[in-house]
Amino acid sequence: MTTTMRAVTQDILGGPEVLHLIEADRPTPTTNGILVEVRAAGVNAIDWKIRQHGLWLTPPFTLGWDVSGVVVAAAPGENRFAVGDEVYGLPGFPALAGGYAEYVAGPARHFASKPKTLDHVSAAALPMATLLAWQALVETAKVRPGQRVLIHASAGGVGHLAVQIAKAHGAYVIGTASAAKHETLRGLGADELIDYRVQDFADVAHDVDVVLDLVGGDYEDRSLSTLRPGGLLIGVTNPLDVERIAAKAAAVGARGVTVDVAPDHAVLEHVAALVDGGRLRPLIAETFPLAKAAKAHELAEGNHTTGKIVLTM
Ligand SMILES: NC(=O)c1ccc[n+]([C@@H]2O[C@H](COP(=O)([O-])OP(=O)(O)OC[C@H]3O[C@@H](n4cnc5c(N)ncnc54)[C@H](OP(=O)(O)O)[C@@H]3O)[C@@H](O)[C@H]2O)c1
Repeated sequence: MTTTMRAVTQDILGGPEVLHLIEADRPTPTTNGILVEVRAAGVNAIDWKIRQHGLWLTPPFTLGWDVSGVVVAAAPGENRFAVGDEVYGLPGFPALAGGYAEYVAGPARHFASKPKTLDHVSAAALPMATLLAWQALVETAKVRPGQRVLIHASAGGVGHLAVQIAKAHGAYVIGTASAAKHETLRGLGADELIDYRVQDFADVAHDVDVVLDLVGGDYEDRSLSTLRPGGLLIGVTNPLDVERIAAKAAAVGARGVTVDVAPDHAVLEHVAALVDGGRLRPLIAETFPLAKAAKAHELAEGNHTTGKIVLTM
């Protein structure tokens, strides 16, 4: 049996052109780990930000965290999954997982059984986006039926899934998105949509209980004016900014927090149940073969996709 695999790597930080295909050694699962033959890998905004700026990582490295595939080996004693099981997950984040590759090894507890009603491409679109949306809206905000939730960039990779997770918890969902995307978002359950290009959302949205700010920058201050007293602003674009956001929110009688996504198989099991129950579906903006990862990054960086970009093996 061959012990190598195709992977996309980069040796330096830079534009999409630094991504290139190599023949690499297959990883081996360590304690409590599994080896997954990757069928599809999701592309996230953090991928192109790290490709460009490194952030907490130094090249050479293989990007990618969202994966869906088939278990091909398990570490001795690991018994959550058996060879042949179909799984999806966000292994290792924020440590490197090497998802842009034909094989990935990671802790078994960072994976869950793939939703039965989805193929691997759609399943690979889910982990990071649904984990973030769930950890923000369900675990942090504890969204309750009838609460008004404002989701910025509601058509994006995280946003369109956050809309559905908020709806599944009974919220009244207001989204910001350009007009061409409103019909799609209504189909996913959004109650009210604001075309941020022609209207200032801060003039329209009011008495909001929770803002999920997927845009950042001046959206932070403007979002605070939409909150009811005691409402909650959740920032995710710079999780280290928590003290600043908390102080700004407190100054106007609101609350401010940040959320940084973390692997959690229990959340992925809830997500799979929503998907298989017909209450959550990912939209796929475009798929690219692994070798075209640079093209996928160009599209992602454009910042105007609807749904998720996915690499296929
Ligand atoms: N903290 C964490 O753990 C964590 C985890 C995952 C993601 N994130 C962050 O969350 C953010 C969103 O990620 P994503 O994957 O959803 O990004 P994405 O898919 O690239 O977002 C694209 C969407 O953004 C919309 N958009 C762009 N500018 C907008 C604006 N000014 N107002 C409203 N919508 C706007 C676009 O809609 P239009 O075409 O209509 O403009 C498009 O649908 C990123 O900053 C990412 O780094 C954080």
